Amino acid sequence: MTRFAGRRAIVTGAAGGIGFATAQRLAEEGASVGVLDVRGPDAEHAARQIAASAFVSERGGSARALAVDVTDEDAVETAVAGFVSAEGGIDILVNNAGITRDNLIFRMTLADWGRVLDTNLTSMFLCSRAVQRTMVAQGSGRIVNVSSRSALGNRGQANYAAAKAGVQGFTATLALELGPFNITVNAVAPGFVRTGMTDATASRTGRSPEEYRADAAARIPLGRVAEPEEIAAAILFLASDDASYINGQTLYLNGGAR
Ligand code: NAI
Repeated sequence: MTRFAGRRAIVTGAAGGIGFATAQRLAEEGASVGVLDVRGPDAEHAARQIAASAFVSERGGSARALAVDVTDEDAVETAVAGFVSAEGGIDILVNNAGITRDNLIFRMTLADWGRVLDTNLTSMFLCSRAVQRTMVAQGSGRIVNVSSRSALGNRGQANYAAAKAGVQGFTATLALELGPFNITVNAVAPGFVRTGMTDATASRTGRSPEEYRADAAARIPLGRVAEPEEIAAAILFLASDDASYINGQTLYLNGGAR
């Protein structure tokens, strides 16, 4: 498919996991993709890997690394301005970068509260504010934010749940503000996805990634955790022309778990 031929997209947190799968699929469907991540060498590696795919070259896609910390206002402004000037515009922003710093409230430090809010929520404000200038002038754009099922509450994740619930309110509000400029803003809220993030949680809690996934899968109607590509597929739908009348929504992707 070439749904994104000629489209220009930035995906944050794209050196691995859901962000990588999203950047890869966008490029494979023809987009020019900025693979943005704070881990510069890993972003370079990811961009090279994406650019090497036969689908990407056949369908006119491309990928280039942007080594940026999404919590750094100046770095975000500079990176977005550089991308826009090199590509001639920007059509899609996927706000995906995120971290966890889990702890029960009595052990949670202010630093871990702040870091999670900054990385998972304030980053979306910075990146969205930076791209909307160009999108408003173009009269078109798509922003897709990655929230989480944890927005509904998850023991040990007061900081992360607050940030991810904030993402949903931010999404609904940007949809109101940017809708009149033909820019849609939506969110996905995944449950458990097999990525470096959930593998790290497993080792922190003394389990193997396999055990941790099996425990989670037992509570999911589909009987398994999600693959990053399955989340990417929903993000691409929301970023595509097919989603032209979907605005301000959060789509839960958790295999049917309530
Ligand atoms: P991951 O850890 O594999 O990927 C996150 C990426 O974000 C990493 O490449 C990391 O370097 C990057 N990143 C972190 N801080 C950054 C910063 N300050 N600036 C730029 N990049 C930064 O994790 P995963 O699972 O792919 O997570 C992607 C998104 O999905 C996150 O927002 C996460 O909260 C969300 N999510 C993940 C779920 C899961 O089960 N894995 C479930 C629900 C939501």
